[in-house]
Amino acid sequence: MSEKPISKGKRSVVITGASRGIGRALAHLHAAHGFDVLAVARNFKDFPHHPNITCLPLDLTWSDAIPKIIGCLNATARPFERLINNAGIQVELDLTRDVGDETPALIDREIALNLTLPIHLSHAMVPLMARPGGTIVNVTSLTSRQPKSSAPVYSATKAGLASFTSALRHQLAPLGIRVVEAVPPLVDTDMTLGRGSGKLSAEAMAQAIYDGIAAQRRIIAPGLSRPVLLLNRLLPELVAKILAKS
Ligand SMILES: NC(=O)c1ccc[n+]([C@@H]2O[C@H](COP(=O)([O-])OP(=O)(O)OC[C@H]3O[C@@H](n4cnc5c(N)ncnc54)[C@H](OP(=O)(O)O)[C@@H]3O)[C@@H](O)[C@H]2O)c1
Repeated sequence: MSEKPISKGKRSVVITGASRGIGRALAHLHAAHGFDVLAVARNFKDFPHHPNITCLPLDLTWSDAIPKIIGCLNATARPFERLINNAGIQVELDLTRDVGDETPALIDREIALNLTLPIHLSHAMVPLMARPGGTIVNVTSLTSRQPKSSAPVYSATKAGLASFTSALRHQLAPLGIRVVEAVPPLVDTDMTLGRGSGKLSAEAMAQAIYDGIAAQRRIIAPGLSRPVLLLNRLLPELVAKILAKS
């Protein structure tokens, strides 16, 4: 873990959920391109060291998470060029059965990480971002368009995040801050362990996000995401049937 402060004058990015999976690949890709990276997640135990990456171990569902991130940024360089709201969890939940004492807390936690946090963090980061030139990326999911019945809360949070992304894009356009939605297909990470085949690698997903920002895309949808999004616009009921079987 590096404790080096982010240095003035360099390109900089804050990435949530950066210890594993897509977030970790994004952190290393940005670092390799010379960005100073503030990587946030709970556990960086096996995280490969990179001199451009500052790791901030933090549970993003805790109420002090945003003040801690902003405090860390205030002590370093600004304006910030990028915020990537990537952290997420997916809880399989059957609301007809999961009625244990812990279920409401599980639901609250999933909403807090996947939806509440990116909204509050975006709000808190806007004053610190480059204008023009800043970019906020929100990582959603195809479940934002077609909910997955085994993960109803996850799907709802991703639909909410997609909607927030569209609204924020309009609000921030006059400031020259772009707001981008990244919609991964099935990506080979801990989240999808034991599920599906033909998955995109986390590195390929990270590269698609990096290239999509450079190409000024509003929606970054690599691999199968692009045809699914297109077909969903034309024939949503057909896509629902296909996804229900997958
Ligand atoms: N993989 C896919 O196929 C897929 C498809 C569509 C969308 N997505 C979305 O892509 C994003 C990244 O997913 P992924 O597949 O890379 O997942 P992942 O491998 O499970 O990684 C999730 C990241 O979030 C962090 N995280 C989880 N709970 C946290 C908490 N309470 N506080 C701080 N950090 C926390 C984890 O770090 P710690 O455990 O160290 O905290 C980890 O860095 C998510 O938003 C996911 O919904 C993924």
